[in-house]
Amino acid sequence: MPDASFPVHLDAMMSSRFFDSHRTRAVAQHLGLYVRAHRCFLRFFLSFVLGAASTGGCTSHGATTQSDAASGTGGSGGADASAADATSPDAVSGDGGLWPCAPPADPTQPRSTLAATGCMDTVAITRFAAGAHRYEINSPLWSDQADKERAFVLPPGGKIHVASCAAQSTGCLDAADDGKWVFPAGTTFLKSFGFDGKLVETRLFVALPDGTWVGYSYQWNEGQTGATLVASAGASASFNTGSRTVDWTYPGRRDCTECHTRSAGWTLGPETAQMNRVPTTAALGTGNQIDAIATAGLFDTAPPKPYKAPLVTPYDGPLGGPPASATVTERARSYLHANCAFCHRPDGEFNSVDLRYDTAFEDTGLCNAVPAKGTQGVANATNLTPGHPELSTVSLRMATLGKGRMPPLASDVVDEDAVDVVNAWINAIQTCP
Ligand code: HEC
Ligand code: HEC
Repeated sequence: MPDASFPVHLDAMMSSRFFDSHRTRAVAQHLGLYVRAHRCFLRFFLSFVLGAASTGGCTSHGATTQSDAASGTGGSGGADASAADATSPDAVSGDGGLWPCAPPADPTQPRSTLAATGCMDTVAITRFAAGAHRYEINSPLWSDQADKERAFVLPPGGKIHVASCAAQSTGCLDAADDGKWVFPAGTTFLKSFGFDGKLVETRLFVALPDGTWVGYSYQWNEGQTGATLVASAGASASFNTGSRTVDWTYPGRRDCTECHTRSAGWTLGPETAQMNRVPTTAALGTGNQIDAIATAGLFDTAPPKPYKAPLVTPYDGPLGGPPASATVTERARSYLHANCAFCHRPDGEFNSVDLRYDTAFEDTGLCNAVPAKGTQGVANATNLTPGHPELSTVSLRMATLGKGRMPPLASDVVDEDAVDVVNAWINAIQTCP
């Protein structure tokens, strides 16, 4: 039976599905179909990840699998392939993976080392595998000053859907969700966290065939020779970067889906307004990221140009800084959108406040609103009192590490730059609309 600490408390339905062994088998079979249907792609992809020279087309493998031989169709495989595939070399990585960096076939049994996931380069092991699509975003989550790298791996043949809310497409609650990116089952997202050039953690967030997502976390050793699975309850460590010691908390698996919620669309970074940028890191490419993803054919339908306007980067950091033309309102609203709005949205965990960027200020539930959850001990505070950050719970909660801190988890250091931006914004507001 399930490990009691597995991340299922939010959604009982989800848990019963996870632990039903029939279901798990069905899931594995479903993923197997992907592999059979896209064997040609898979070999191509493998040659990237394993660094093997790709010597030819789909039919060039000398040791062809039984199913190939039987069906005579070479790369496309056959409907009779299931028995042979279980042991075929195409079923990859030896520990349940179906293609490199695939979600674990049984979500309760993630691989015990990061190297075994197939998500990382086999030589430069702290780097993402060559087949992973690296990207940057405009407005990052504050993670106690850690540097981050991000990437995704689509399942063979999988496509990204960009929500078009005027057309009422998947991924929209209302117009403020326009441009949200929706990823197919089988997708794996990767995020590495580091300090002073050393990695402390790599997180995987994976899309299961039933439409739910699960997160796992891997802890890097100080020698950077490997990363091992963090227990589902999470962990904490003092990490020596070589020049200082950093206290780091590895979130538990159930913490992941406190923020990465179904209502927020599971993934939190990728949306047109976040991805619309030329990467700061030259190795990620020199053109617009969305153009590159469109050229690679990864969208079901590429978003129309001009793309939705980029969120401004709230303050100077590794991802650059706000353009000179950015207003303090744009900077503050961008920060609140990226760091808070996945919980503070109309169908979110705390829905009387809506902090999405496209929500009109008067509809955010902030301005002169009597706090539903107390004033943080400050008499007469409202959620946002024009001209008075010291009377605004939105600022007070960001500036404390104590009771009532926002965000309520996964951060133990106040983001002083963000508090400055939000306070400047509140100071600039004269009256409520
Ligand atoms: C406090 C909220 C919060 C918690 C807790 C959290 N994340 Fe995230 N995560 C975010 C936000 C916001 C982003 C997007 C912004 C960014 O990438 O900086 C993100 C991005 C990611 C990404 C890149 C894909 C995406 O959704 O944008 C991965 C992978 C990821 N998180 C994994 C995890 C895993 C695994 C856990 C649990 C071990 C976890 N996260 C816990 C808020 C959170
Ligand atoms: C993981 C979900 C989550 C995230 C992320 C989050 N919040 Fe909250 N927020 C909550 C919950 C839950 C409450 C209710 C707290 C309570 O019961 O005391 C709350 C309460 C608040 C309130 C009080 C509203 C009222 O009417 O009393 C404010 C203001 C607030 N959050 C602002 C923020 C800001 C600003 C951020 C980002 C820096 C943020 N929150 C991030 C879940 C979240």
